[in-house]
Amino acid sequence: MQAVVDLKSVHKRFGSQHVLCGVSFSVGRGQVVAIIGKSGSGKSTALRCINRLEHVDAGTIQVCNHAVHDPALNLRELRRDVGIVFQSYNLFPHLTVLQNITLGPTSVKRMSAAEARGLALEVLARVGLSDKADAYPEQLSGGQQQRVAIARSLAMQPQVMLFDEVTSALDPELTGEVLKVMEKLAVEGMTMILVTHEMAFARNVADKVVFMHQGQVWEEGAPAMLTNPATPELRQFIGNGL
Ligand SMILES: Nc1ncnc2c1ncn2[C@@H]1O[C@H](COP(=O)(O)OP(=O)(O)OP(=O)(O)O)[C@@H](O)[C@H]1O
Ligand SMILES: [Mg+2]
Repeated sequence: MQAVVDLKSVHKRFGSQHVLCGVSFSVGRGQVVAIIGKSGSGKSTALRCINRLEHVDAGTIQVCNHAVHDPALNLRELRRDVGIVFQSYNLFPHLTVLQNITLGPTSVKRMSAAEARGLALEVLARVGLSDKADAYPEQLSGGQQQRVAIARSLAMQPQVMLFDEVTSALDPELTGEVLKVMEKLAVEGMTMILVTHEMAFARNVADKVVFMHQGQVWEEGAPAMLTNPATPELRQFIGNGL
């Protein structure tokens, strides 16, 4: 299978703290990879390195045809291929849902207003919010705002999408509606890497689970590993019900 994302022996330090200690894993086209692990294990840092929000100290990261570790990387081209959605939605409060979504395509991709509008309506339909195009973010629930954030990212037509605990701030009902959207994206063939505490989602939707511990990939494999951990660390993590 062709790898869309490939990390090899990635190291990252913050000052004296060694946060990623030789992280390697790869993601094939159309694959869904769930990264799990306890707080501070390096999950977000790994994700941020893939999008070059952080620069690695050693190792290589290949994303599509971009050498992300290369100081000469063209950031704009990388970001065109990689979408990222965070726990906080970061929507512009003074813009409507539609305007939030068309901003990227018109400014970064230089799409015409009409074309961007058509695309925005299309991605809004994909996240089930066709009726909210003219609403302002404050008029939406947290789950709806997060779905707009996902739609905004989709409008950039990325090759791969990264999700960092996108449901952690939501109550269970709203979490469910966001997970449903993500599951639909997975079924449609989107390549996705998600940091998540939603074990049921990891078990049912992911093709591969990466368990991080102390800055390393401690265990990696099919979701079945969640019911049959090979290491005491994963066993303990799952036992904590996280
Ligand atoms: N910009 C930064 N500067 C200094 N230290 C950082 C920075 N970002 C992360 N760290 C440290 O790196 C370690 C790993 O952080 P990271 O955010 O990757 O963990 P995580 O697995 O995502 O945890 P959580 O589940 O709490 O989100 C932590 O000890 C954190 O304090
Ligand atoms: Mg994190």
